[in-house]
Amino acid sequence: MQEWRFQGKLIWPVLPACAFNTGLHFPELQGRLAQAHLENLGSSKKLAGRIMGSQLRFDGKVVLVTGAGAGLGRTYALAFAERGASVVVNDLGGDARGGGKSSLAADKVVEEIRRKGGKAVANYDSVEAGEKIVKTALDAFGKIDVVVNNAGILRDRSFARISDEDWDIIHRVHLRGSFQVTRAAWEHMKKQNYGRIIMTSSASGIYGNFGQANYSSAKLGLLGLSNTLAIEGRKNNIHCNTIAPTAMSRLTQGIFPEDILESLKPDYVAPLVLWLCHDSCEENGGLFEVGAGWIGKLRWERSLGAIVRQRNQPMTPEAVKANWMKICDFDNASKPEHIQESTRSIFKVISKINSEGGVSANHTSHAAPTTTSGLAGAVGHRFPPISSAYTELEAIMYALGVGASVKDPKDLKFIYEGSSDFSCLPTFGVILAQKILFDGGLSEIPGISVNLAKVLHGEQYLELYKPLPRREKLRSEAVVADILDKGSGLLILLDVYSYSGKELICYNQFSVFIVGSGGFGGKRTSDKVKLAVAIPNRPPDAVLTDTTSLNQAALYRLSGDWNPLHIDPNFASLAGFDKPILHGLCTFGYSARHVLQQFADNDVSRFKAIKARFAKPVYPGQTLQTEMWKEGNRIHFQTKIQGTGDIVIANAYVDLVPTSDISAKTPSEGGGLHSTFVFEEIGRRLKNVGHEMVKKVNAVFEWHITKDGNTVAKWTIDLKNGSGTLYKGPAKGSADTTIILSDEDFMEVVLGKLDPQKAFFSGRLKARGNIMLSQKLQMILKDYAKL
Ligand code: NAI
Repeated sequence: MQEWRFQGKLIWPVLPACAFNTGLHFPELQGRLAQAHLENLGSSKKLAGRIMGSQLRFDGKVVLVTGAGAGLGRTYALAFAERGASVVVNDLGGDARGGGKSSLAADKVVEEIRRKGGKAVANYDSVEAGEKIVKTALDAFGKIDVVVNNAGILRDRSFARISDEDWDIIHRVHLRGSFQVTRAAWEHMKKQNYGRIIMTSSASGIYGNFGQANYSSAKLGLLGLSNTLAIEGRKNNIHCNTIAPTAMSRLTQGIFPEDILESLKPDYVAPLVLWLCHDSCEENGGLFEVGAGWIGKLRWERSLGAIVRQRNQPMTPEAVKANWMKICDFDNASKPEHIQESTRSIFKVISKINSEGGVSANHTSHAAPTTTSGLAGAVGHRFPPISSAYTELEAIMYALGVGASVKDPKDLKFIYEGSSDFSCLPTFGVILAQKILFDGGLSEIPGISVNLAKVLHGEQYLELYKPLPRREKLRSEAVVADILDKGSGLLILLDVYSYSGKELICYNQFSVFIVGSGGFGGKRTSDKVKLAVAIPNRPPDAVLTDTTSLNQAALYRLSGDWNPLHIDPNFASLAGFDKPILHGLCTFGYSARHVLQQFADNDVSRFKAIKARFAKPVYPGQTLQTEMWKEGNRIHFQTKIQGTGDIVIANAYVDLVPTSDISAKTPSEGGGLHSTFVFEEIGRRLKNVGHEMVKKVNAVFEWHITKDGNTVAKWTIDLKNGSGTLYKGPAKGSADTTIILSDEDFMEVVLGKLDPQKAFFSGRLKARGNIMLSQKLQMILKDYAKL
């Protein structure tokens, strides 16, 4: 996962913890596999048996080895056959420089396999005729499971003396040949949802070697090919890995001293190839050096680098020279694994330059590897505060993003700003707080170099201290509450407080999990954690379901989480998902809506807090099923995918405010409202002019004054009976017109700043009953404009 910018906005890509359940390769898993490799490769059958359970077999598998008539290829072919595979032994049978051809080499190996009781057929085509070779496998055995691209020749010459032919033949056999054979097998592997591919590179390609410009370029080309096939094949369970072997063969004749040739047998390379091609091996996209019984894995390392230009300034060679030491300094270097880690750095640099406007060498510390040191400085670390303003627009967009719909009239209050009781969904409070994370603050925590590719969003807690106003400007502050060592990862507890002026509106706790950074001997629990709570052990008291739309993630992301994981199929595939997944916090919003609907009649003032743990991914279009249990004012819940039964949000709860507290808090007497003074004044004046007004107006008006979406006062102006009266509360008889508007809008109308009819048509003022009578409002209210 990466950090992204979209239209200038920084995107902090937090995977839901459910990513654990995908094919992503995490260091812990890799570590275990690596350990298994080593023990297995110790060539002790006893050890291998203990680690892997039993001998690695290839029964029923069809394996194609190119260039299998001699050297390494022959050894692979024999080893696969010995372990039950049906083997296609391909070899052109030419000389080491690519001249001539003969069927002898392949035939001898096939004969040897058959003699030992194995299954094999020969193919004598050049690897450039990939289709024909794969056809041999299909004709003989009906399928193709494994391709080992091994065939090779040499045309060593110093660079100046390389002829076109020397260049072309090397590229044709090694790079184009591997491409042709693999492409011919690819569709069959995709269809059967299984494939294992080996590319054979060389130390000469990785490091360069005198006299091998043609060969080294083709060999490193194979690594590029493998890297891409690993990505494209992942979703079809096709794995592609690259080896750079060292072994004695005719290609290396005369290179190694006689006395060590025995130690460089191809048998000390083949076990790695077999393991990488076994269906229990999850390795994909790896590069290994192997020889003499030793295996090492390679990866890229990148220095922190330096930014060498300023905003709106040209970049100069002199600035490059001045920063050269820094550019080449590998202290605190990172080890990027995906292309996104490369692009992320570039985006980050652009943002730094644009925001800081100056040279900021070595500001790319975000890309440093995940290490843990000096954690004492991390706890209590404060992020720079951020301000964010929202209006009804953002609140409605969020509500639509979490499934509020016109299908349910009760949802209208969340998606129509003209609703008399318009309200922000309480979980919108998460959106307001997460912006502080998107601004890259995670990278700045002292003592922790966060590799964002390893960051998961584990849990979320949100508490509201009052219903979210319909529009507001908030200031959010974040502090690292604690750092925990969870073994498989490091957990950052991040507390975010959001204020309106000095008033605390909401508090969020983000549990941010950094995979692979645990095991530093830190504490495992903290009294700062807002704990998830197990659900009761009985059938749920209520279950609500909602089908998410295919566009759900596309809609939800408009609220500010622009991570391409939720929209871009290629990106999702890179991250190990079949297709883009829904935001965990979107499912969270759905579930909270269900609880509010079921147990609080959609009354946002009853919402106090929510805690949820993200367990598995959801795909847009799936149906969410929220199971709820009421225990006093706590509603426990878990959310499942209908159909699969997978739990996607686990051990969650919503705390509701007891109804008694609500009525105590509601200013039912109209206390603190501006409109109260106006009504009281109207009441006083009616005593003088009421008789006259009754004649002109002849109607009873009932007023509902709202605050933050809730009706907080009702007044009745009776200009129909007697000489007119005004009293608190609803009309004693029936009202001709009921007018609903907020305290603020009421004052705007009174002050003549808001025309009642315009307010009506824009939805800010609602009228029920005889709405034509609302035309007379101005007559009633205009005298009060001077108040
Ligand atoms: P080798 O010469 O013993 O075996 C290569 C086989 O490929 C030969 O049997 C040859 O007839 C066959 N071949 C050549 N061109 C072919 C074509 N167009 N179509 C089909 N078959 C063809 O060499 P070795 O050492 O076993 O090499 C195997 C692979 O390992 C090669 O790709 C080589 O570049 C690579 N390699 C080997 C190293 C070593 O130390 N032996 C070092 C680094 C890479």
